[in-house]
Amino acid sequence: MNMPRLGQGTWNMGDSAARREEELAALRAGIELGMTLIDTAEMYGDGRSESLVAEAIAGMRDRVFLVSKVLPSNASRKGVVRSCEASLKRLKTDRVDLYLLHWSGSHALEQTVRGFEDLLAAGKIRAWGVSNLDLAEMKQLAALPGGKACATNQLLYNLTRRGIEFDLLPWCQARKMPVMAYSPVEQGRILGHRTLKEVAQRLGATPAQVALAWVLRQDGVVAIPKAATVAHVRENHRALALQPDAQALKTLDAAFPPPNKARSLEML
Ligand SMILES: NC(=O)c1ccc[n+]([C@@H]2O[C@H](COP(=O)([O-])OP(=O)(O)OC[C@H]3O[C@@H](n4cnc5c(N)ncnc54)[C@H](OP(=O)(O)O)[C@@H]3O)[C@@H](O)[C@H]2O)c1
Repeated sequence: MNMPRLGQGTWNMGDSAARREEELAALRAGIELGMTLIDTAEMYGDGRSESLVAEAIAGMRDRVFLVSKVLPSNASRKGVVRSCEASLKRLKTDRVDLYLLHWSGSHALEQTVRGFEDLLAAGKIRAWGVSNLDLAEMKQLAALPGGKACATNQLLYNLTRRGIEFDLLPWCQARKMPVMAYSPVEQGRILGHRTLKEVAQRLGATPAQVALAWVLRQDGVVAIPKAATVAHVRENHRALALQPDAQALKTLDAAFPPPNKARSLEML
């Protein structure tokens, strides 16, 4: 599966009439720049984010790699299909490129996988994956019939959330399963960090660009920052051209230490 390395998140987008035009412009600018992976979910704004995405991609659906997610409470075999069909209506399209289980809940994973397989067979999704599943759950999934078809695990990953580097990320990398790093700038909270600012200044970049380039330094990691302004989208796009050098990585490791033991999976 060919996923663009840098995509666009949409959590909290589509909720405000006053911000709508700027949000649409931001998503479209990102697509023009090649950030054609758009991540949304039925949960976001109770479908309002998906409706915004529909408007943003109108007339250019074929250029976009569309990702949406089913809530765990809807993730029975039949529920997955119902949720996806409702998402497709809001997204005004006939298929999503990648459909994810948002996090694991009370429905057996096996039933959720069955639902995904029904959707694949109907041509309503091109691939399926998961989000927020820890290593034990990934192993359980891989052991299920059809479970190895899982195309991604979307996980919280940024400078301040490095837990997955200990075991889950290497496990996915060993299986050539891309990880989608969500909240790659920790929802903006890390951008004022003194060390990050210093590294950015030395590299002639911005803190957001360094934070994103740092996430993207890993093999098989895709980042999906959310940016609701054209200026932020343009700034983030330039992270693709930034290569943090050894000195930058060392400084960042000292300020944001990598994990030295297994940790329970963090999520937002
Ligand atoms: N699977 C899951 O459970 C899960 C959980 C969380 C998120 N996600 C997905 O991942 C996406 C990204 O995560 P996120 O939205 O939580 O956080 P994020 O992308 O780390 O941060 C978004 C925040 O950072 C700001 N920002 C972005 N680029 C910036 C820049 N260049 N300079 C300054 N500020 C900048 C944005 O401001 P503006 O909006 O003003 O541009 C926004 O407030 C979500 O939108 C969603 O699609 C998935």
